Amino acid sequence: MPNIAVVGAQWGDEAKGKVVDFLACEADVVVRYNGGNNAGHTVVLGSETFKFHLVPCGILNAKVLSVIADGVVVDPEVLVTEMDGLTRRGISIEKLRVSTNAHVIMPYHRLLDRLEEEGKGRKAIGTTIRGIGPVYADKAARIGIRIAELVDPARFRGRLAENLKLKNLLLEKVYGAEPFSEEAIYQEYSAYAERIRPYVTNTSYVVNWAAAEGQTLLFEGAQGTLLDIDHGTYPYVTSSHSVAGGACLGTGIGPRAIDRVIGVGKAYTTRVGAGVFPTELLDDVGDYIRERGKEYGTTTGRARRCGWLDTVALRFSVMVNGLTGLSMTLLDVLTGLEKLKVCKAYKCDGSETSQLPGDWETVQECVPIYNELPGWSEDISGITRFDDLPANARAYVKHVEELVGVPIEIISVGPERGQTIVR
Ligand code: GDP
Ligand code: IMO
Ligand code: MG
Repeated sequence: MPNIAVVGAQWGDEAKGKVVDFLACEADVVVRYNGGNNAGHTVVLGSETFKFHLVPCGILNAKVLSVIADGVVVDPEVLVTEMDGLTRRGISIEKLRVSTNAHVIMPYHRLLDRLEEEGKGRKAIGTTIRGIGPVYADKAARIGIRIAELVDPARFRGRLAENLKLKNLLLEKVYGAEPFSEEAIYQEYSAYAERIRPYVTNTSYVVNWAAAEGQTLLFEGAQGTLLDIDHGTYPYVTSSHSVAGGACLGTGIGPRAIDRVIGVGKAYTTRVGAGVFPTELLDDVGDYIRERGKEYGTTTGRARRCGWLDTVALRFSVMVNGLTGLSMTLLDVLTGLEKLKVCKAYKCDGSETSQLPGDWETVQECVPIYNELPGWSEDISGITRFDDLPANARAYVKHVEELVGVPIEIISVGPERGQTIVR
């Protein structure tokens, strides 16, 4: 298998976890390179469901090295809880590696995330309140605390004191909130540090050496293209690079190390949190999709907004990620709908466009232009060959493929590993 980057092609929750788990069977190294525990990646194996927030899904394969690389932000409490949960379920975490350079989410990041959201009122982003924005802000401001410092008690104490001086001032004077106790955080985080230390290493060497030996790398993107800090629907985005380029930045590998880029996109569209969503369905069809697709957040349990497939957005995703192929997931959810709509273009300012306008604010004013296709009523969740799908389901996939311009190589018809069609 070539080295593959798997990225979300929409607004997150596209079933990247399922696709990564499917591909990880043939990989040697699986790398998480962006985001933190704002991610929730679900893998279903028979009667067992695993919800990953920080640990790469590859950990379910005993031979895979699972790397939390430089670009990830780590909430140590969440990481330790996830490590313990996996161990309890008989999954070995011996082959987990955590980058010295990954930044640490502190309690004040989580609190500031909440206070900033509350302060925005109607303009709130609808973040996961996991401290993601504040920790990446500190990273860019060059005051963040990294894993290398967390696991070195003397350095950690000093960095914590420096940061708390500022953060407590901000909390007390600007937000009127209670300050944090340095001693309490130090004690709590020292215990996490003890647990994480054995896995900490310079992961850019680990990954580059593995590549040089000819091992197969799989990059597990978190969030989705339209949530990328630079290329997404700013400011309604996350704070990291969720596009394929993020795999290089967040891991410390060169672009030539990636052979293929697979975008994961649902057969429809969902979004959690605020921001533009031209094809959103606020009617019975949207409810039908939400209930059949169990569209409630893996991380926060929030109901996801649902809508028709938007190929204007998908084509943008193909472009900015350099997608070599797509994986269309949750196709089974559309079963039972008499008519299906696919957005092929937008009408903006009276004229038709097949591209996203440069300014996201104006997307809000655009009206989607749809092609309508007939649906199917047969249960497709047990089908493993493309040719066995109902004719209308095949036509739907081919229609999207034509509009998007890259092959749909993998089709998912259910949450389990085996409910997958490879074309
Ligand atoms: P991720 O964040 O991109 O990994 O996606 P999530 O795990 O947050 O959300 C995808 C959800 O869809 C999970 O609950 C999966 O178990 C489920 N799922 C994955 N593939 C399929 C599929 O083909 N059909 C159905 N019905 N559910 C799926
Ligand atoms: P996975 O990896 C879906 C969304 C939040 C919010 C915005 C900013 O499971 O696909 P943040 O907490 O990152 O500051 O929130 O981004 N968001 C996600 N939506 N899936 C995710 O991850 C997400 N991670 C963040 O809902 O709108
Ligand atoms: Mg998710």
